[in-house]
Amino acid sequence: MQITFRPARADELQAAEALVVRSINDLTVRHGFGPMASLRPADFQLFSLKDDPDGLWVAEADGDLVGFAFSWVCDDFWFLAELFVSPDQQGRGIGDALLRRTFEQAGKVGAVNRALITFTFNTVSQGLYIRHGLYPRLPIYFFKAARDSLNNRRGEADHLRCMDIRNTELDRERLAEIDMSALGFSRAKHHQFLLSDANNRGVLFYDGDDCVGYAYVHSGGHVGPLAVARPGNMGAGFATALKLAEESGAADVSAFLPGTNAAALDAAAGHGMRITFPMVLVSAGEFGDWSRYLPRNPGFM
Ligand SMILES: CC(C)(COP(=O)(O)OP(=O)(O)OC[C@H]1O[C@@H](n2cnc3c(N)ncnc32)[C@H](O)[C@@H]1OP(=O)(O)O)[C@@H](O)C(=O)NCCC(=O)NCCS
Repeated sequence: MQITFRPARADELQAAEALVVRSINDLTVRHGFGPMASLRPADFQLFSLKDDPDGLWVAEADGDLVGFAFSWVCDDFWFLAELFVSPDQQGRGIGDALLRRTFEQAGKVGAVNRALITFTFNTVSQGLYIRHGLYPRLPIYFFKAARDSLNNRRGEADHLRCMDIRNTELDRERLAEIDMSALGFSRAKHHQFLLSDANNRGVLFYDGDDCVGYAYVHSGGHVGPLAVARPGNMGAGFATALKLAEESGAADVSAFLPGTNAAALDAAAGHGMRITFPMVLVSAGEFGDWSRYLPRNPGFM
């Protein structure tokens, strides 16, 4: 069967996401975790395609979509958001070929680091990334709880004040400063993306007059990204975001927590949240202070 690789088009991103969902659920069911993914609008993919089409690629066989890869760049940092091959086409070199094409984007922009988040239980993806010089560095756990079962720990959230993020020079500067110090690069365009979604609430945390962090809380109860100025702000920041998620009225509350982030893990355990999926951050070089940052999801980071 002849496989062709070409840049992705906007009108096929939703079909590509359907392939991604099929591929994730095939993997998670095979490993005993049950289906993990459900189809959502391809908003971030479309946003990223408009920003830089070099990062989105499809593989086709006889006119059918059999693979999809999607990467984004911020400053000199490259991130692989998605790499998925149709379950019946895996193990034939398609993933490797798609990965090489997204790497061309990293080369073009002169990225100094490359990273992604994958499933800890997928030996194939990790083996493929290691072969390309991207090494497993940090466990990341998807924690979840039914809202009604959350333990009441409200006292921990009381001392931070929340202000909705505004589209002002000052708030943009605050976000950029926190991202630069926690991650090493600015995510200005990604904040714009998050704030343009009416389902997301973005807040800045204040301790007195000091801006000490930010968080996004989705109407579906998901927390992240969340970043704080100092590790000491994480416990209260995460507890505050959980309180907002609880108040959203969603059925579940969830977040992705780095395995080295003791304050967030303690808060999650204290609230009665459960580990649902183990994931791992893979990268070419070390980066990020993970005691100060919680990713949104494996694609957004
Ligand atoms: C991961 C995925 C994208 C890889 O695509 P693929 O087309 O199946 O992979 P390829 O055939 O191009 O490459 C597979 C490579 O994985 C590596 N590999 C496979 N099993 C391995 C193992 N047990 N240990 C180490 N390396 C292994 C090998 O390098 C292999 O290449 P080789 O056969 O030439 O030696 C695909 O399998 C997939 O969609 N999996 C499910 C979803 C997923 O986990 N996606 C990644 C999300 S970040």
